[in-house]
Amino acid sequence: MNVLIIGGGGREHAIADAIARSKQNPAIFAVMSKKNPGIAGLCRDFLLASETDVVKVVDYAKSRNIDVAVIGPEAPLAAGLADALADLGIGVAGPKKAVAQIEFDKAWARNFMKKHNIAGCPDFEVFTNEKGMNVFIAKLRNVAIKPAGLTGGKGVKVMGDQLPDIESANEYASRLLEHGSVVIEENLIGEEFTVQAFVDGKSLAFAPSVQDHKRAFEGDLGPNTGGMGSYTDAGVLLPFMTDDDLKKAKQIMVDTVRALYEETRVPYQGILYGQFMLTKDGPKVIEFNARFGDPEAMNVLPLLETDFVNVVSAVANGTLENLDVRFSNSATVCKYAVPKGYPENPTRDSEVIVGDIGDSILFYSSVYEKDNIVYTTGSRAVAVVGIADTIAEAEVIAQNALDNIKGDLQSRRDIGTAELVQKRIDHMKKIRGD
Ligand code: AMP
Ligand code: GLY
Repeated sequence: MNVLIIGGGGREHAIADAIARSKQNPAIFAVMSKKNPGIAGLCRDFLLASETDVVKVVDYAKSRNIDVAVIGPEAPLAAGLADALADLGIGVAGPKKAVAQIEFDKAWARNFMKKHNIAGCPDFEVFTNEKGMNVFIAKLRNVAIKPAGLTGGKGVKVMGDQLPDIESANEYASRLLEHGSVVIEENLIGEEFTVQAFVDGKSLAFAPSVQDHKRAFEGDLGPNTGGMGSYTDAGVLLPFMTDDDLKKAKQIMVDTVRALYEETRVPYQGILYGQFMLTKDGPKVIEFNARFGDPEAMNVLPLLETDFVNVVSAVANGTLENLDVRFSNSATVCKYAVPKGYPENPTRDSEVIVGDIGDSILFYSSVYEKDNIVYTTGSRAVAVVGIADTIAEAEVIAQNALDNIKGDLQSRRDIGTAELVQKRIDHMKKIRGD
């Protein structure tokens, strides 16, 4: 079995690690833009190339007799890599361009949700010019403003510390218009959670719910990032969620997969990532991604008990219904070490020294290796994951490991701590009004 992984970040290191645990002893190949030492160490062979260079990736896949490819990031999906690999008869876990649009065009995604009456869609409008924009912002008052295209989660701003008043909202929206369409929508108030599912076109197999921490600094302050860290609880819920909340979120994802087929006649085969805001009226959709989250993949993939090669093959072949996809019942805490100044003014090319990480699992992200030394790139560098019976125990494992990773780095100590988790629970209680 020859498996190709596309991408070179922490998420892809977790994917490679899960493939490497397979009883089928697969040969792993990778295409990544920089040499991620974690992935390289698990591979039989790898190609250093841009992940969106479809021609190069396809030639490499052909030359290595790849049976199944797993596409990690969104950019190659938007470039049509899944389509090109499928054309060669290679199995692909990663949706084709027509349905991956749900992630890479936020305007398309919202219009699609509205057209197909998908539950949990906030009030929104899409603007291609200034006409009516300020009026809509004034009508909604409390808004979230998003560029329609891909920005790695960093182009979105919401009212609050990021946009203090209507004036700054108008200004930001106008500025974004220079680069394309802008989605203006209601600022959803509540607690965020993520549900990821394997999808084979028809069936969905759900992973435990995860909560990411988007803001750069402790106390949920500062600019949005790709995600500073994340946690899962033992079982499938987060401590502030009910069974009913999860049931509704899953139903939204099931309906979305069905509607995507109705809309495009292309089956969605890959990972569907639902990002939800749990509001007083239940879960609302912040966005869908067409791939695993980074860091969220690092929480759930280490818990996967089913052979991952079987899972990705079932996704690619449309046979997920026949597979029992199981996750172990532990809590996880994942924390990222990122370059100082990230995301706005990160330092680069500084050495990362990994000391004793105890029982944690380490995933390399945007780093590169040269002469056996690992260097930062300016983006998230290295993540550690603690796994234990409780979130609190998992947090200690992750934090101890992080304390032994040295370099010009910063991180959020608060992720997964009892104090922050309690704050989430109290916040949700207040939102629900009990
Ligand atoms: P996205 O790139 O859509 O994931 O947005 C990044 C972050 O912006 C999300 O994780 C949320 O914290 C926030 N966000 C996006 N849309 C909304 C919304 N409609 N209401 C509140 N927060 C939002
Ligand atoms: N951590 C959020 C994402 O991967 O989109």
